[in-house]
Amino acid sequence: MPNTCVVGMQWGDEAKARIVDVLAADADLVVRYQGGANAGHTVIVEDEKYIFHLVPTGILHAGKTCVVGNGLVVDPRGLLEELADLRERGVDDEGRLWLSLRCQIVMPWHRALEAAAEAARGSEKIGTTLRGIGPCYSDKIARTGLRMADLIRPHNLRKIIDGKLDFVNPVLTKVYGADPLDGDSIYNEYAAIGAKLKPMACDTIKLLNDAVSSGKSVLFEGAQGCLLDIDFGTYPYVTSSNTTACGISPGTGLAPKHIDRVLGVLKAYCTRVGAGPFPTELVEQPFQAADSLDWQAERLPHIGAQLQTKGGEFGATTGRPRRCGWFDAVAARYTTTLNGADAVALTKLDVLSGQPVVKICNAYECDGVRYEGYLPATVDELDRCEPIYEEMPGWQEEISDARTFEQLPAAAQAYVSRIEELIGVSAEMISVGPERDQLIIRNGGWHVQA
Ligand code: IMP
Repeated sequence: MPNTCVVGMQWGDEAKARIVDVLAADADLVVRYQGGANAGHTVIVEDEKYIFHLVPTGILHAGKTCVVGNGLVVDPRGLLEELADLRERGVDDEGRLWLSLRCQIVMPWHRALEAAAEAARGSEKIGTTLRGIGPCYSDKIARTGLRMADLIRPHNLRKIIDGKLDFVNPVLTKVYGADPLDGDSIYNEYAAIGAKLKPMACDTIKLLNDAVSSGKSVLFEGAQGCLLDIDFGTYPYVTSSNTTACGISPGTGLAPKHIDRVLGVLKAYCTRVGAGPFPTELVEQPFQAADSLDWQAERLPHIGAQLQTKGGEFGATTGRPRRCGWFDAVAARYTTTLNGADAVALTKLDVLSGQPVVKICNAYECDGVRYEGYLPATVDELDRCEPIYEEMPGWQEEISDARTFEQLPAAAQAYVSRIEELIGVSAEMISVGPERDQLIIRNGGWHVQA
């Protein structure tokens, strides 16, 4: 299989993991390149539900090598818990999960600082996953981070912890009025964690380049979604990494020429968890900044609530309800361009069954300007954008048993075809249910095409 990237092209939660799971069968290596335990990748295999946060989804396929690249921020405590759970369920990672020596480590001060900062923002909060992602990436860029290579070296670990707490504890106590952290207990816990992870830590830049040189194929597993990209997303309501395929090279050490093709994943409607602009959201009033994390449920009117319930739209990491809205072709065109997507996988089409009418947003209007394939740069403008919809007839049939495009009702086929037309690439996979086999694979299977 050519080296392939699977990337979410909305606000995350596009059901990427199940697409990765299908393609992983034909790859030699499955590689995460950005993000951290903010991700919640769900795969259902024969009624067994797996939720991955840091471990690449490919671990479910025996014999595949899985890599956590240098671009991630790794919570080592969470990683050990995730591995313990997988091992208990019979998934063996021995000798096939490798962690970059250069990935950044999420430490207790990252979570403490994030919790304090989010609380202090009040109604302006981002609604983060509180996994320490932003503060850890901030340390990376400020060149004050702690990397896997330090975690597994007790001397480095001690030195960095002490230096960091000299700075962090006054901020926690004096700026935020929070409790200080204790260096000794952090050192004792993390030195033990480092010792456990040491056998898996290696130079993944070399591992990956050697693998590619010897003809092995790599599947890149994106996390979050492109509209949460730190550079291209709805800033500042974004995550702190490059979630687009553009993040692959800096997050792995593989040169751009090794990325052969990109499969974008789009849900058949849109969702967003956390605060931030969402032009096609199904709400009766214009977007206002969230002042609590429970606000979505109260504001969802009928159709949004239906999609939320039918689609199980609750965060896999935090359990928060996801805001729901109509398919946004403006955003999808933008992210198709950003990623250079060669094709898309359209997921959760079955969730739209039963709607009398389905809508697609084809343009926004803001202050007399029309947007069709790019987004305005500011949140203020995005909040003022009026979505322009086209309406199509819905379909009443349940479609979860369809395995070919032709088995879909004509209205569902027309909906998919219209999306393809609007974004300019074809939907090579269409998911019609959460199970591994509830998938329509078109044109003989994108995974085997060169
Ligand atoms: P952070 O990544 O925890 O800093 O959160 C920043 C924003 O990204 C918040 O709106 C989160 O809800 C959102 N976010 C982070 N990870 C995911 C994900 O995997 N799926 C969907 N949203 C996410």
